Amino acid sequence: MRSIALLTSGGDAPGMNAAIRAVVRRALAAGCRVFGVHHGYAGLIAGEIEELDTRAVGDIIHRGGTILRTARSEEFFTEAGQETAIEQMRRHGIEGLVAMGGDGTLRGALALHRRGVAVVGVPATIDNDLAFTDVTIGFDTAVNTALEAINRIRDTATALGRTFVIEVMGRHSGQIALVAGLAGGAESILIPEVPYDLDEVCARLLRGRERGKRHSIIIVAEGAASGLEIGQEIEKRTGLETRVTVLGHIQRGGTPSGRDRLVASILGAAAVEVLLAGRSGVMVGIRGEEWIATPIEQVLATPRPLPEAWIGLAEVLAR
Ligand code: F6P
Repeated sequence: MRSIALLTSGGDAPGMNAAIRAVVRRALAAGCRVFGVHHGYAGLIAGEIEELDTRAVGDIIHRGGTILRTARSEEFFTEAGQETAIEQMRRHGIEGLVAMGGDGTLRGALALHRRGVAVVGVPATIDNDLAFTDVTIGFDTAVNTALEAINRIRDTATALGRTFVIEVMGRHSGQIALVAGLAGGAESILIPEVPYDLDEVCARLLRGRERGKRHSIIIVAEGAASGLEIGQEIEKRTGLETRVTVLGHIQRGGTPSGRDRLVASILGAAAVEVLLAGRSGVMVGIRGEEWIATPIEQVLATPRPLPEAWIGLAEVLAR
């Protein structure tokens, strides 16, 4: 393989730039030409492709977002869109593609693989909703951003003796809520994967107040419920003064954590090694300190296991 392209697609995630740097420099070290595709699959269709050298990815390892920009493309999921994308790759002499992003990006990668394109996926999404990797790139930073916000809210919650509902991102996944909730000392964590009983949440709040608790923090995953509605309902049912904070896109930005940069560097380089070894249609993932490669079909068909027991643990520890 003499020429590799890479793109970032879907929601950006902190650490994507570190992964881009790793792909480019690992491929250059192997003697390949490297092309960056701007705006994800939409840019592949439109031919927004430029050659990258080692300096093009200098000074980006610590930056959030993605220098290649990103997009969500519906056109790519049409036959005509995919044919045009493949034609663009041919025109530029591109023999392999690295696609970074979440499940939508992997679906796109699988479509290309089925059409005979050599393609490897790199899991990068704050949602951490993919199986066959300990973690997706961006998750650790998003959790730490949420934790910083929770710490700050805790100060004012204690000062005024209030209950706070904090809504976090994650789309259909409760991973950010679960980890930020447990590590942030939340009293209740509501996630889409586990049914919750709001009466029980309220009863726990009131029991806490009886024990002398001065404030309460409840973490709601956006996929479970609207934080605003939960906050209003809690105030109505308990009479406790309640405030709501929706963290939103703050969780997507910022300098990537050390862990995200490490995982991104390992997986970006691994994606190139997989292509050089002649494999295609796989996602690279991290397992401990090693990387693994799993067929994308299998990744998409496997729900990510969730440590549900952590909800109960958070409740016990928040006494
Ligand atoms: O998939 C990443 C994510 O940030 C989700 O957590 C969230 O639901 C979604 O993207 C938001 O998408 P958008 O940036 O298009 O509003």
